[in-house]
Amino acid sequence: MMSPRAAGGAGTESPGAGRDRIVVAIDGPAASGKSSTAHMVATRAGLYHVDSGALYRAATAAQLRIQPDVSRWTDAQLPKAVALVTLVARPTAFRPMIGGADVDLEIRGPDVTRHVSLVAQIPNVRAWVNDQIRALARQHDVVVDGRDIGTVVFPDADLKVFLVADPWERARRRLVERSARRPSEADIAEETDRLVQRDARDATQTVQAKDAILIDTTTLTQDEQVSRIVALVEAARARETERGG
Ligand code: DC
Repeated sequence: MMSPRAAGGAGTESPGAGRDRIVVAIDGPAASGKSSTAHMVATRAGLYHVDSGALYRAATAAQLRIQPDVSRWTDAQLPKAVALVTLVARPTAFRPMIGGADVDLEIRGPDVTRHVSLVAQIPNVRAWVNDQIRALARQHDVVVDGRDIGTVVFPDADLKVFLVADPWERARRRLVERSARRPSEADIAEETDRLVQRDARDATQTVQAKDAILIDTTTLTQDEQVSRIVALVEAARARETERGG
């Protein structure tokens, strides 16, 4: 088995060092719509979207390529695995690639999904992900989504948004996303239980920053929540311009 400090190397930078770009942090619990919202905000406000969960997923996929048998994972493998992952600019997002190849489908697959929470607990993997994101933020205006972005990765972000929605609504949206059929009440109830359990497991990592703006999206359409955040981004930009940033 792998020890916690297995990835090695990274994790020495202080957040925000040398940065004069706009950073928008979008945090929230599982299935709160962070990634899709962040992507739409990036498109409308002219920022790059960085999905921090996708980086944890790419590290996991690379590790599974090096050693598909999880019981044979060792400390020495992780630095090699993360070295295979690069972030590549698309029109409005940075996406992880492995060995230069697209991995969008692979990182959403069941194998990666089963093992990613294990990999995401390793402090050196967290340090590696955070260093990748901070390096991008020194070069580009970014909107980054995750569960520790406004607290750990960018405590000095220009704008922090914390998205919440009631568990029933999150479960309903998740099921609608997965299937074209309208979910039954029983399916939503079952998915709600799963989400509540996942919230409890993730509770230590999903913390709202004190200066984050809370947006409860339970009764908002996606367009309404994106418009609210884009307006906040414009206000943050105006403040930055006034300060001469
Ligand atoms: O949001 P997601 O399902 O793609 O996240 C994948 C995994 O990475 C999940 O176990 C939560 C974890 N994660 C994390 O620990 N910190 C982040 N900033 C983003 C994701």
